[in-house]
Amino acid sequence: MLRCKHLTGKRSVNMISSTQRLGPKDIPAAAALLRSGELVAFPTETVYGLGADARNDRAVAGIFAAKSRPQFNPLIIHVADIAAVEEVAEIPFEARALAAAFWPGPLTLVLPTRRDSGLSDLVTAGLDTVAVRIPLNPIAQQLLREFGGPIAAPSANPSGKISPTTAGHVLDGLSGKIAAVIDGGHCDVGLESTIVGFDNGPVLLRAGGLPVELVSAVLRKEIRTNVDTAITAPGQLKSHYAPKAMLRLNAVAPEPNEAWLAFGPHNFNAPSLNLSQSRDMTEAAANLFAHLHALDKIAARIAVAPIPTTGLGLAINDRLERAAS
Ligand code: TXA
Ligand code: MG
Repeated sequence: MLRCKHLTGKRSVNMISSTQRLGPKDIPAAAALLRSGELVAFPTETVYGLGADARNDRAVAGIFAAKSRPQFNPLIIHVADIAAVEEVAEIPFEARALAAAFWPGPLTLVLPTRRDSGLSDLVTAGLDTVAVRIPLNPIAQQLLREFGGPIAAPSANPSGKISPTTAGHVLDGLSGKIAAVIDGGHCDVGLESTIVGFDNGPVLLRAGGLPVELVSAVLRKEIRTNVDTAITAPGQLKSHYAPKAMLRLNAVAPEPNEAWLAFGPHNFNAPSLNLSQSRDMTEAAANLFAHLHALDKIAARIAVAPIPTTGLGLAINDRLERAAS
């Protein structure tokens, strides 16, 4: 178990002696840390984000350093409301419909950046678009309002590792490398946001916590899927969600040396965790990363039961395939 660590000495962006574990009452202190250019991890409804002031080059560079993340990878910015989106980006007609239907929530829109956005170039990685999201989680909302500007935040895990859905996961990967984490318990959705871009019409760049069928329903047409996500969304590296353990997908039963990631009832004797006893996709999504983190600690091989590919199953299978490759 991880325990609360307290700040012992002087701290700077490059030399952090220990990471503070903050609670919801400490949001003003967290906002002050962000204002002084420090990194603060915070809960969102999807996964924990590693936040930095999106207008501060030095702070944003700190995200890449803490995550050991390739520099070419652009980041999602988080804002409190639609007025704040309009300060940094243009909102095309179809984007406005999706924003009205799903914000605040687990949807990211890639929008044309305003020239006077004030965003660090490191956030957009030199592209003329910016990925924006209005999160629903009340701690994220309160932090954004207290901070009063855009917060750049990729998932709060070392690059290539499983995304965090608890403050403990964040500390497992980044303790000592960031100023603080706000503990807000488990993330409700448990999968990263669904990303939609606009390039001759809407295009799905990443399946995620908002089922793609709901996006298509609002657009009144089936959304195009980007066949070449590797170029427009470089974060979609094949091995993006790798646990240390070997994963075997669509398994019928665990072999003697394997742990079992179940979906629905079973009688196997293997060490196991169940994504959802009742085969509920929302529950399975919320449990996915936490169960992978947990089984990764006790087993070298994990067999995974088949998961349907509709609704949230599209994103769950996407993350499992990346974790297995
Ligand atoms: O749920 C989420 O989206 C979480 C929480 C913390 O909000 N954040 C997250 O961020 O997953 P990150 O940085 O791990 O994923 C960002 C994705 C990457 O695949 C990146 O390449 C893509 O968004 N992206 C960012 N800006 C982009 C742009 N201008 N055009 C295309 N893709 C972009
Ligand atoms: Mg990530």
